[in-house]
Amino acid sequence: MKLNTPRNIAEIIPYPPGKPQDELEREYGISESIKLASNENSWGPSPRAVEAITDMLTGLHRYPDGSSYYLTQAIADWVEAEPEQIVLGNGSNEVIEFLVKAFVLAGDEVITSHPSFLMYQKFVQVRGGKNTVIELNQLEHDLEAIIQATTEKTRLIFLDNPNNPCATLISKKHFQDFLLQLPETVIVVLDEAYIDFVNPEQRIDTLDLINNNSGIPAVVALRTFSKAFGLAGLRIGFGIMHADIASLLHRVRQPFNINLPAQIGALAALRDKTHYDLTMQGTKDGLAWLTERVRALGCTPYPSHTNFFLIDVCGDATKLYEAMLYKGVIVRSMQAYGFPNFIRITIGTEQENTRFIAALQECLADLGYV
Ligand SMILES: Cc1ncc(COP(=O)(O)O)c(C=O)c1O
Repeated sequence: MKLNTPRNIAEIIPYPPGKPQDELEREYGISESIKLASNENSWGPSPRAVEAITDMLTGLHRYPDGSSYYLTQAIADWVEAEPEQIVLGNGSNEVIEFLVKAFVLAGDEVITSHPSFLMYQKFVQVRGGKNTVIELNQLEHDLEAIIQATTEKTRLIFLDNPNNPCATLISKKHFQDFLLQLPETVIVVLDEAYIDFVNPEQRIDTLDLINNNSGIPAVVALRTFSKAFGLAGLRIGFGIMHADIASLLHRVRQPFNINLPAQIGALAALRDKTHYDLTMQGTKDGLAWLTERVRALGCTPYPSHTNFFLIDVCGDATKLYEAMLYKGVIVRSMQAYGFPNFIRITIGTEQENTRFIAALQECLADLGYV
């Protein structure tokens, strides 16, 4: 075999997949581990979604509705947009891919931050585009540096808001000023995967910016059912944008990109206010409780607008991650993100949070960090 692998593809570093939880348990000789590593919903999927999916399983021999008519309609009602402004994806990941496919050709530039969600850059590499990567400034997107880095070749700017992994938020005023200083030819993508956890008063009015775009660049908002709605395994997310942009994205998507269980499950989850509220309250209470306990142990918790937060553990985070694994608590070391002393944890249920704190206390003492 002789492969003519394009250089831009060969250079892509694969997304770090992480081991299945069962496999980790076998490897570390543990059981009943808890996973606080991927910012998922610790309260599980919406029970109404589970019921709706169970009821539709005998219909799996049919192709799904290629327009996801009912789900699109329901999402449009929920976010107060028109159905023509909504594009669904196999996770919001896929909408990121559509944006890059539709707007980036070889040599075009895309601006992202570091650290930030990893997938933006990978899709750009696939297209042979150029990633311009701007370091966060004090854990926040450096909007001034992004303006400076924007050129006539810049097609897209990706901003995860709140940022993953730092859990910081762009202020409404700062974002308005930012837009006014950019050329109208770029598209600013606000990845709002965690927006449900943000205090409504602090949220950027993305729909207003999408609809009233005179003199400013186009804004696209990305949302997901993977976090607040607890459907990460179903793979369903969406973008809200000007109808003209949506029309272009529909041209680059497969006709049946949203599978049948995802259409049915997401629709039911949207109507499950009880589960949504439980998740919101549990996250808020859990964050407050964990922050206090982490501080009491001598570590530094960082403020968060989401369902996860950073902790400075005052020592090698990867060693702590390993030690926590032996206690059956899976967290994320931030070493690879450039923070060698930080871990990131997802807010768990009350029981999970209690276990996390007990394990952290023991591991910190064992490692002599505090
Ligand atoms: C900032 C950000 N955007 C997007 C995603 C992916 O969302 P989805 O599961 O909808 O593809 C994640 C997942 O962790 C994320 O952190």
